[in-house]
Order: sequence, then structure tokens, then C-alpha cells
Amino acid sequence: MAIVGRPSGFGIFDEMTDLMQRAYILGWPVKHSRSPKIHGYWLKQLGLEGSYELCETPPDTLADTVAVLKAQGFAGANVTVPHKEAIFALCDTVTSQAKSVGAVNTLWLEGGILHGDNTDLYGFSQNLTDFAPQWQSGKTAMVLGAGGAARAILYALVQNKYDKILLVNRNLERAQKLAALWPDQVTPLDWAVAQTRLKETDLLINATSLGMHGQPPLLIDLASANPTLIVNDIVYVPMQTNLLKQAKDRGLTAIDGLGMLLNQAVPGFSRWFGHTPQVTPELRMLIARDIPE
Ligand code: ATR
Repeated sequence: MAIVGRPSGFGIFDEMTDLMQRAYILGWPVKHSRSPKIHGYWLKQLGLEGSYELCETPPDTLADTVAVLKAQGFAGANVTVPHKEAIFALCDTVTSQAKSVGAVNTLWLEGGILHGDNTDLYGFSQNLTDFAPQWQSGKTAMVLGAGGAARAILYALVQNKYDKILLVNRNLERAQKLAALWPDQVTPLDWAVAQTRLKETDLLINATSLGMHGQPPLLIDLASANPTLIVNDIVYVPMQTNLLKQAKDRGLTAIDGLGMLLNQAVPGFSRWFGHTPQVTPELRMLIARDIPE
């Protein structure tokens, strides 16, 4: 890949001197991201000459940063909070799934064209496929939460032919707005009635921040759940949330959120470095070691 021009004044980018494939994570703040460790593990495991670095990107510098990276011929980047929507306008083209989800989390440069995609859908689906492949034959799902994460999950569920999706959120109006994107499949519901609908649910997903370290607990009683219910928490700090502990105690299938984080990284790595990496038990352990209980 040719490096075309290198405007100065952008810190780490000034030091680029070779043609190595370089990828970044753009966010603000971003220093706690686990992505460099994930991609670093794969680069080492596959013996590839590439790099993946943190790039602290305050909102008012996003456009300039992307312009510099494009000019230098970077391989691509992950994009995280708060840029997942703003980055749309800076992409030359985005995938249909990124459009449906309303967010881009992965960029790659090909022939000078900057592409944007959303790989959270893949991460979510693959995590379930790895640990509960039967999820693909479920019909009814309950999603708790109506933010950006919930939107990606709803799209994945619709793609996977879930024909009844109960969307539960504290702010019902927000759930109603989101449900309107897929009105045939998604029904918005008040939190107060969620519990009573558990017996008809095949798959329950927590897509709120409840249960995360520093946040209030998620209060839901799984006593009335269908015994084959699959419970997935996208929260992974801590990995064993109270929701997952309760699911396990009741003999239900419980899937943590770490696999979604690891799997959403796979498509980007493949594009940037030309090899499809594996989410191995060793990688899970490496990342899990750093997650507080
Ligand atoms: P993300 O992009 O990670 O989905 P978000 O858009 O901020 O983040 O969404 C956070 C979700 O967690 C929302 O569904 C939010 O509910 P509201 O829409 O009612 O705000 C939910 N959430 C956060 N704190 C909550 C709390 N204390 N009780 C109930 N739901 C909460």
C-alpha cells in the first residue's frame, strides 16, 4: 500500500515510516479499550507485520484525523463512542447493514474509497452461535433496552427470522420509535409487563447498561421463564452479571457479552490484514483476565 503524503502535527502519525498495514481505534475517551489487545494477539499469533493503535479523537478532530489517515493510506479503523454516527458523513460508502443499524464501527480503505460497516451484528450473532446454536431456530425474543446496542441486536434478530420481538425500555417512547423501524416484528413494551411475557420468550437479551460496574442492578425475576430460555447479557464488565448468575442457578443457558466484543473484531481484522482470525479460548482467557469481577 502506498503512503500518499503525510501531513504533520498529528502526533503518532508523524512517526510512520514504512508500508506496514496500520489500523486504529478512534474514540474519546478510548484508552480503556480492549481492542488493541485483541488485535495485537491475532497479529502475533498469525505472525503478521501490522499494527493496531489507540487514537484518542476528540469530537472536533474526527474529520481531520480521518482525512490524515486516508491520505496516509491506513488499512482501516474501529470507531467507538462518541463517533459511531458522526463517522457516516466521512465515509465514501457504507454497507446496508450499517445504514439499518444507524451506526458505523468499522472502516476500511480500498482503492482510496473509505468504506464503513457495522460488525456488532456479526459479533452478537456469532457469540450466540458459538455458545447456543439453537438460538437460530427461536421465534420470540425479548430485548431489554432501546439504545444503539439494542438497535443492532434488533436488526440481527429480524435477519435471523425472529418474528416476535418484545422491546422493553424504561423510556417507552424511545422503544416505540425504535420498534417503528420493524413494525411487523417488534412490539414496544413497558418494563412493568416484561416479567409476565417471559414464558413465551426463547431468547432474552440485556442491551441496557444495567448490571454493568458502577450502574444499578438489572432487576428481573426469571422464575416464570420457559425452561429452554437462552439468556444473553451484552454487559461484560463484570462478565458474570447478576442476570447471568440467576439464569445459571435456574438451569437456563447463560451467555456472557465477552464473545460479542471478540467476534465484532473479526471482520475488521480480516479486511485490514487479509487473514480471518479465530476467537480462541486462549484469547477469551487473555481478555477475561483484565475484566474486574
Ligand atoms: P448503547 O449505545 O450502549 O445502547 P444508550 O444508547 O445510552 O447506550 O442506551 C442505554 C440503554 O440502557 C437505554 O435503553 C436506557 O434506557 P432509557 O432509554 O430509558 O434511558 C437503558 N438504561 C440505562 N440506565 C438505565 C436505568 N437506570 N434503568 C433502566 N434502563 C436504563
